[in-house]
Amino acid sequence: MTVEKMRDYLYHLPEQFAESLKMEFDFAGDYRSAYENIVVTGLGGSAIGGDILRTFALQKASIPVVVNRDYNIPAFVGEKTLFYAVSYSGNTEETLSAYRQARERGAAIVCFSSGGELEKMARLDGKPVVKVPAGLVPRAATGYLFAPLALLLEKLEIVAGARDELEECVQVLRDIRDSLHPEIEIEKNPAQKIARELKDSIPIIWGSSGISEAAALRWKAQINENAKSPAYYHIFPELNHNEIVGFEVPAELVSRLFVVILKDRFDHERVKRRMEISRDIIKQRVKGFIEVESRGESFLARLYSLCYTGDYASFYLALENGINPTPVALIDYLKGELAK
Ligand code: F6R
Repeated sequence: MTVEKMRDYLYHLPEQFAESLKMEFDFAGDYRSAYENIVVTGLGGSAIGGDILRTFALQKASIPVVVNRDYNIPAFVGEKTLFYAVSYSGNTEETLSAYRQARERGAAIVCFSSGGELEKMARLDGKPVVKVPAGLVPRAATGYLFAPLALLLEKLEIVAGARDELEECVQVLRDIRDSLHPEIEIEKNPAQKIARELKDSIPIIWGSSGISEAAALRWKAQINENAKSPAYYHIFPELNHNEIVGFEVPAELVSRLFVVILKDRFDHERVKRRMEISRDIIKQRVKGFIEVESRGESFLARLYSLCYTGDYASFYLALENGINPTPVALIDYLKGELAK
């Protein structure tokens, strides 16, 4: 089984941020405008950067970022929309459909892709394409599929501070990698320990609204795609108003759940309290729980520190499961069936 691919992708994630920091965005001059909203359209590994951008912008921008994972685009999209179409392959049909609709509405479109139909269409339409290096799998290109989106917003003066935060990401992720990569023995490797705990359980990932919610989704998706296991996520405080009640029956199933709580020192004080109380409610009923603390200073560094730990944990869980983390045969099968 070749696991080297995903291992190498993970190892080089910090360099994706470092390389993105060198991008120029020559077309930016034509894109300065008083936008009313920003839409990021994409699916799966190409959409998660949109979620990160949305939460980043919540704290920094005066206009909203909306993530669209669909064939259709929201009714509000128009000439005052900055529209990011993100598809690693450039061939995802939902994204191509959303692109066409945004073009009809006169939105200011920028594409982020390694090629495919999206690049072809954009070139014909005279829309800029920010090229992502080919040869990776989408979910492993998360640096390339986020950092340029944020840097362009900074260049357009829609957010400030993206560059500084991404520079910190490079440093924080390099430090984290030193303790998570496969040469580090399990006693000193938190991600390997988490994977051991997650084995033979159903992971439930809890994050917090506006802070770690994209990281919680990323953990879930990475466990699904790398380890080929079920995983679910939810966020505080909302989960205290529904999910928390659902840890009673069937007791034997609940006892197979393993809860991962993603914590950040800037979580709302009441959310911190909710996390403690919730942990105490579930701890006798589930197989176990673990708390993972973010690292770094800036929002993006803290968020990516959580994501990166999850990326590595899902990689080790794949190995625990005896599964090659890289291929996603069922996603390919679905795309193939739909193309018939
Ligand atoms: C595969 C992966 C998927 C894809 C999704 C959309 O590694 O992460 O979630 O990202 O199927 O495909 P792209 O990214 O090519 O638009």
